[in-house]
Amino acid sequence: MNILQINASARSTGSHSSRLAGDLVGRLQAAAPDAQLSVLDLALHPLPELDEAALQALFTPAPDRTPAQAARVAHDDALIAQVQAADVVVLGVPMYNFGVPAQLKNWIDAISRAKVTFAYTEQGPVGLLTGKRVYVALTRGGLYRDTPADTQVAYLKTVLAFLGMTDVHFVYAEGLAMGAEAEARALASAQAQIAEAVPA
Ligand SMILES: Cc1cc2nc3c(=O)[nH]c(=O)nc-3n(C[C@H](O)[C@H](O)[C@H](O)COP(=O)(O)O)c2cc1C
Repeated sequence: MNILQINASARSTGSHSSRLAGDLVGRLQAAAPDAQLSVLDLALHPLPELDEAALQALFTPAPDRTPAQAARVAHDDALIAQVQAADVVVLGVPMYNFGVPAQLKNWIDAISRAKVTFAYTEQGPVGLLTGKRVYVALTRGGLYRDTPADTQVAYLKTVLAFLGMTDVHFVYAEGLAMGAEAEARALASAQAQIAEAVPA
């Protein structure tokens, strides 16, 4: 089994979402000790955004690409190969200004490639990253679960399903900015959710 852990927090240390993602991975590894783990820490290794140069590189036929364009496409190719190889994807995702961190969006932009990770057919779009299980550890300063303001869950469900990943489990740690007691309760609740999501 191959596990891909992606830490989307802008903090390389002290991140609750990265710690919870690591706890999810720990339980998965306890159940499957031979599992191979790849960790992509987006605070330590930020991804480039999908800017005009990147679009030009992607839409230039391979033989005509400049060395810089070829390198840009190869960078995304490697991220695609990494997620294709994963059986389980674990995402640590803070809420930033009511959305997902820009770095996670950069990863999604990098792996969303027509005819590679999704395809349009006469019946509509088909996701090609199938057969994977996804766990998402969500951290928030406030309380947004099951409210219209929780656009993160709707967005992630939609885009992951578009790419073929429909087996998605969310773990919430909310109210982390609402005092020490609320924080402790949120983290204990997240641990209970992790234990339920990945039984021993
Ligand atoms: C730039 C920034 C924006 C944030 N925006 C929100 C927000 O919109 N809603 C919210 O509930 N918490 C927000 N928070 C709080 C974080 O979601 C919370 O501190 C979370 O634990 C951060 O994740 P991390 O511990 O993995 O770094 C924000 C924090 C930062 C640094």
